[in-house]
Amino acid sequence: MTPLKYGRPLNFQRWLADNAHLLQPPVNNQQIWKDGDFMITVVGGPNQRSDFHDDPIEEFFYQFKGNAFLLIWDRGRYERVDLREGDMFLMAPHVLHSPQRPEAGSLCLVIERQRPAGEFDALQWSCAKCGTVVKRYEMQLESIVADLPPVYDRFYTTSEAERRCPQCGEIHPGRDFKAWHHALAEAAHR
Ligand SMILES: [Fe+2]
Repeated sequence: MTPLKYGRPLNFQRWLADNAHLLQPPVNNQQIWKDGDFMITVVGGPNQRSDFHDDPIEEFFYQFKGNAFLLIWDRGRYERVDLREGDMFLMAPHVLHSPQRPEAGSLCLVIERQRPAGEFDALQWSCAKCGTVVKRYEMQLESIVADLPPVYDRFYTTSEAERRCPQCGEIHPGRDFKAWHHALAEAAHR
């Protein structure tokens, strides 16, 4: 028999139930279709991070359960975009953003596209005090599952000296997210 040119619909609630164990720590996310042009992922909380993503294409967010927020670096300062339960958000390309998901059980549908060749993603870590880039790694992203963890490892194994802000001297706390958020809150009150 000729193979189907199309897939079968899947039931989203059933998919969520089947993947619930992956939508929490330590994995926190799962891609629904793994070989499409659309990279459709569900991301769960709790999960905190200190990296900022520079994406060459748009990203769509639908926060369908619980609340989350995006930290954004724009107009020379850190800003916060709340994603409250039920919110949809379309992120423009190349806006530096860091999704923060403090709530256990929160769920967000994220839709991106495969990157055209020559369009690079970057992960960067910035100074909590002054926003200066501490480290930035660019890559031709092919898999959101396989290509990002090595970059995290690269940054989190850097020495303190390598994490020193070239502008103000503040040491980026690396994967100590609590310390990074604390420094960010301090800087916001200055
Ligand atoms: Fe700095």
